[in-house]
Amino acid sequence: MTTGEIAPGIASPALPASLRGTLPGRYYTDPTIFAAEQALIFETGWFCAVLAADLPTAGAFETVQIGRESVIVARGRDGGVNAYLNVCRHRGARICTEDKGSVRRSFQCPYHAWTYGLDGKLISAPNIGEMPDIDRVEYGLHRVHVREWLGYVWLCLAEEPPSFEDTVIGDVTARLGSPDAIVGYQVADLKLGRRISYDVKANWKQIVENFMECYHCGTIHPELTEVLPEFANGLAAQYFVGHGAEFGEDVAGFTVDGSAGLERIPGVGDDQDRRYYAITVRPQVFINLVPDHVVFHRMFPLTADRTLVLCDWLYLPDVVDSGADIDRSVELFHRVNQQDFDACERCQLSMDSRSYARGGVLVPSEHHIGEFHDWVARRVG
Ligand code: FES
Ligand code: FE
Repeated sequence: MTTGEIAPGIASPALPASLRGTLPGRYYTDPTIFAAEQALIFETGWFCAVLAADLPTAGAFETVQIGRESVIVARGRDGGVNAYLNVCRHRGARICTEDKGSVRRSFQCPYHAWTYGLDGKLISAPNIGEMPDIDRVEYGLHRVHVREWLGYVWLCLAEEPPSFEDTVIGDVTARLGSPDAIVGYQVADLKLGRRISYDVKANWKQIVENFMECYHCGTIHPELTEVLPEFANGLAAQYFVGHGAEFGEDVAGFTVDGSAGLERIPGVGDDQDRRYYAITVRPQVFINLVPDHVVFHRMFPLTADRTLVLCDWLYLPDVVDSGADIDRSVELFHRVNQQDFDACERCQLSMDSRSYARGGVLVPSEHHIGEFHDWVARRVG
């Protein structure tokens, strides 16, 4: 074998009926496959970009990376949220290099000072009098489709976005078994209590797969299995449709030590009380619902082997404003996140091994991950 050639996979026996195969290891390391995912997954579907409350006033903005594009997301003067590509229409300079900030009424390109309004329209340019025929909308920043749902700003770079109802809301409905099941959590009305960001040295699909299964829960999540004893047997809430995992008998709340949580969100019904629901919204969101708070993860794939995860803990506004102690509830899922991301990084280390060139196996309690693999493969081949 010459340098640079990929080691051939070691032949595996045919899979017995109880097992299924995974994606081959190169799906987690190959920059060509990552580029295909950027173009065919992240740049074509809906992407959850920003917590709307993080843009409180006109001119507040964040820049986000979606696939290969940098996007400016800004609150307009009319109170709505606009998004446009962070690329000057003159000669292509990147307009904003900050992650977040606030402008008074416009964005000015630092190169030749073309200036764009909060709606992306070209407002002015040096010597614009010499170009009386320039159309200020036509030469405005390229707009990106925007939807707000659950208090977050979702963006789509495609010219013709797929139906938000069928894809994003459809994923939530498919998991919870009913479009109404999430309504009682009033997610859009909750307030950010804590945010922790995790720089994970693993491919984004490792993180999705890990979140979807609970075969690992008994091994790596001692605190979580104390609170949700049924997780010790390896079947994730996501294995079933509409299933909320029940708190253990002695558990008072979804906290690191099982002690009492906070005020229950008023819309949460008795049938959802003392239960935990988990949802994956493909390709980059995980939502966890418990009676007194919501844990909302957004993933930002950076490279084939690196993913930024932002995790928001959302509570009733009164809880946050009163300064109530949320530490024990944050600590539970923070530990779960650390345990999960360590496991993802451990797997990522082996993805280029010849041992994994033909992939691994999914045991029966992980078979639903196969649907996710099919979903990826249908898009990138
Ligand atoms: Fe932006 Fe010239 S590149 S004004
Ligand atoms: Fe886990």
